Amino acid sequence: MDKLLFLYKFLRSPKSVGSVTPSSRFLARAMIKPIDWTAAKNIAELGAGTGIFTRYLHQMKRHGCNVIVFERDDKMRERLKSLYPDLSYHDNAAEIHSVMKQHHIEKFDYILSGLPFTNFPQDLRDRIMEGVEESLKPGGMFIAFQYSLQMQKQLAERFEQVDFDFVPLNIPPAFVYRCRKGE
Ligand SMILES: C[S@@+](CC[C@H](N)C(=O)[O-])C[C@H]1O[C@@H](n2cnc3c(N)ncnc32)[C@H](O)[C@@H]1O
Repeated sequence: MDKLLFLYKFLRSPKSVGSVTPSSRFLARAMIKPIDWTAAKNIAELGAGTGIFTRYLHQMKRHGCNVIVFERDDKMRERLKSLYPDLSYHDNAAEIHSVMKQHHIEKFDYILSGLPFTNFPQDLRDRIMEGVEESLKPGGMFIAFQYSLQMQKQLAERFEQVDFDFVPLNIPPAFVYRCRKGE
């Protein structure tokens, strides 16, 4: 069901969806691995799609932890709302900073991204990354997967520490970046 919906959405908006199939559970586990669940109070997810990461965030979050999910596609977002109604939903990841204020959240501890940055025009990429940087607490972490290392230089310019893992068991194989904001 998820795979069919995803493929259908990819065929309609290939640049925005960025992949023919949802991420694998191996990639999802690599994305959530750095999260300290006992300390995390506010987490954002950008580009949730059919919710492979959202499911883990929903399962693992402690009581009182806010999870704010951004998904541009109305149908995918509505589906996630019905599956995980206790999370909060918004459409455009570029609005992360104003959405954070709207929820009276001071800063995010973690921001996870499944956005296909390399398909975006540079101005949108910059706008989203500025919002991410502004919305992350000092010492907080931006965790993003990409299918190439094209973003490495840009991320290294914005964050104090950047490292990555390679996840071969995904279609296509992917890199998970872990980017720590300076204290
Ligand atoms: C590569 S898919 C990743 C989906 C899911 N996280 C996964 O890994 O299977 C990218 C998702 O980002 C969404 N998206 C694209 N631009 C967006 C934006 N500006 N704000 C929020 N979501 C966006 C697309 O609709 C799509 O669902």
